[in-house]
Amino acid sequence: MIEVQQITKRYGQHTALDRVSFSVAKGEVLAFLGPNGAGKTTTMRILTCFMPATEGTARVAGFDCADQPLEVKRRIGYLPETPPVYQELTVTEYLQFVGRLRGLSGKILTASMQREVERLGLGTVQHRLIGNLSRGYRQRVGLAQALLHDPPILILDEPTVGLDPKQILEIRELIKNLAGSHSVILSTHILPEATAVCQRVVIISGGRIVAEDTPEQLSARLRQSEKISLTLKSPAADTDSRLKSVQGVQNVFTSGAPGTFLLECELGRDVREEVARLAVTSGWGLLELKAISMTLEDVFLQLTRHEEGLAPDAVTAAAEPASQPA
Ligand SMILES: Nc1ncnc2c1ncn2[C@@H]1O[C@H](COP(=O)(O)OP(=O)(O)OP(=O)(O)O)[C@@H](O)[C@H]1O
Ligand SMILES: [Mg+2]
Repeated sequence: MIEVQQITKRYGQHTALDRVSFSVAKGEVLAFLGPNGAGKTTTMRILTCFMPATEGTARVAGFDCADQPLEVKRRIGYLPETPPVYQELTVTEYLQFVGRLRGLSGKILTASMQREVERLGLGTVQHRLIGNLSRGYRQRVGLAQALLHDPPILILDEPTVGLDPKQILEIRELIKNLAGSHSVILSTHILPEATAVCQRVVIISGGRIVAEDTPEQLSARLRQSEKISLTLKSPAADTDSRLKSVQGVQNVFTSGAPGTFLLECELGRDVREEVARLAVTSGWGLLELKAISMTLEDVFLQLTRHEEGLAPDAVTAAAEPASQPA
């Protein structure tokens, strides 16, 4: 449904997007996860034909965003970062206005408005001026606007910003219900948001894609299966197997550095004391023993810490065991 190939966006000297490629299948919900200034909004503006990419191509439902913007816009519902609502209109007046712009009229317009007012819980505020609504309700009106013409593709720029926890859950539920029948891209800088509603997460930082994975895979890194790093001066041939026989140790990996072992342990079990005893009594020359915990936040922060010159690939590699189980 959405096909982005090598798009680059430059603002003068500044490169906001650097050869970004990804795709979204029909019915899929994709999260665009990244810190402030990563390029999320820029990507969405290109996809919604608000501005062209400097290089590369973006296609939506088979139409080129630069060459066939009308066809693209017809199939997209877009919730921009700042909801495009008119303060001086009531909710109903505004939705009527948007609906007409979208070519809806008569009974179809009325039915579409009813559907969205109901779906977004706007019943109690529909006759109030948008300017007098709370931020969360304005956000809901923005979502109603995006959904009104029942587009097959939704592009939602930080859809839950400004909502209270209950509303956040409701909107997430709504997005989950759209999955299957709609293709959705939502941007967020909140990890749980990405993992809660999406089938795939693209992590973007400094205009580049630094990781792409399923929430399950990302959570697997989050799972914090306790890991221990052990460095020995003179390991023996049977060190691997003997470490593995320590109760609570599930896997032993040998990492790149000589004499260094990575132990994957049962959650909540601290095997350090036992491992230290084994190393000392076996005469392996214990140099270092430390617990490593890698939360999804750690992974995310490291992946997006580009300013400090950290190569993303090195981080991904560091987060994974260096070799197959011994
Ligand atoms: N119109 C513009 N002119 C110049 N630079 C811009 C313009 N719009 C965005 N940028 C720059 O492009 C980069 C990406 O911005 P973008 O708004 O896409 O980030 P974002 O991921 O949406 O961030 P946020 O989480 O803060 O919304 C930033 O460095 C930003 O300063
Ligand atoms: Mg943004």
